[in-house]
Amino acid sequence: MIKNRQEMVQVALESIRKKNEYSPKVGLVLGSGLSSLAEEFEGDTIPFSEIDGYPVPTVTGHSGMLRLGPETAVMAGRFHYYEGHPMDTVVLPIFLLKSLGVQTIILTNAAGGIRHDLAPGDLVLLSDHINLLGANPLMGPNDDSLGPRFPDMSEVYTPDLRRLAKEIDPHLAEGVYGAVTGPSYETPAEIRAYRTLGIDVVGMSTVPEAIAARYLGMRVCGISVVTNKAAGLGQGELDHSEVVDTGKKAEHRLRRLLTELVSAVRQH
Ligand code: 6GU
Repeated sequence: MIKNRQEMVQVALESIRKKNEYSPKVGLVLGSGLSSLAEEFEGDTIPFSEIDGYPVPTVTGHSGMLRLGPETAVMAGRFHYYEGHPMDTVVLPIFLLKSLGVQTIILTNAAGGIRHDLAPGDLVLLSDHINLLGANPLMGPNDDSLGPRFPDMSEVYTPDLRRLAKEIDPHLAEGVYGAVTGPSYETPAEIRAYRTLGIDVVGMSTVPEAIAARYLGMRVCGISVVTNKAAGLGQGELDHSEVVDTGKKAEHRLRRLLTELVSAVRQH
């Protein structure tokens, strides 16, 4: 029998509660090539394989574990729509983090740079997004006890969190994230079209999670690591191993930003 999302959350929560009883207020989702940042945050490591009913992600650079501590819950690895997971699965970690007590979530990802000033290794603080996935994680019956049927999305990325992030890292770029399904990268013509639409960075994640988190009343911060310029803007061919490698290099700057942002949010 296929369980509904809240039943899956309950089953997952029970297996996690055998490990510890922490209720951290801050959640983090680490994107492609960024998983090792989980070690910066105190907590017990719970492999996704030990969370009942939890699918195991398949992509390189995603080890798949929850690090659950007193201050933070870190998801290293996520479920992408392009892997064939239903939207319910893509946002399951967000509903689970909510059930653990998380009120503020920081979503990170690897993305292609579209705006001309963005180069590999740059960090982009998300100011907004455009959902080009052709699906929404909130489709289907609504549980009014969790959130509204038609949630407002006029400020997905909480202004206070953006202000804090820019205080910590004044050179942080800001931009609009466009989510596409992948798994093929874009054509140069698609990238020109997306630039016309107002997209600064393009990737295959984050937007479903941000929508689910806002629906649940969480405060959301989004940070992209530009791993490469998008198609037609430089280099040549796009290669997933480069995406993962550049993610690892930008990690140093991201580590400082994330650790300081987490401590600022705790004091906020
Ligand atoms: Cl160029 N496109 C997409 N869709 N995702 C990416 C990317 C590009 N670079 C890293 N992730």
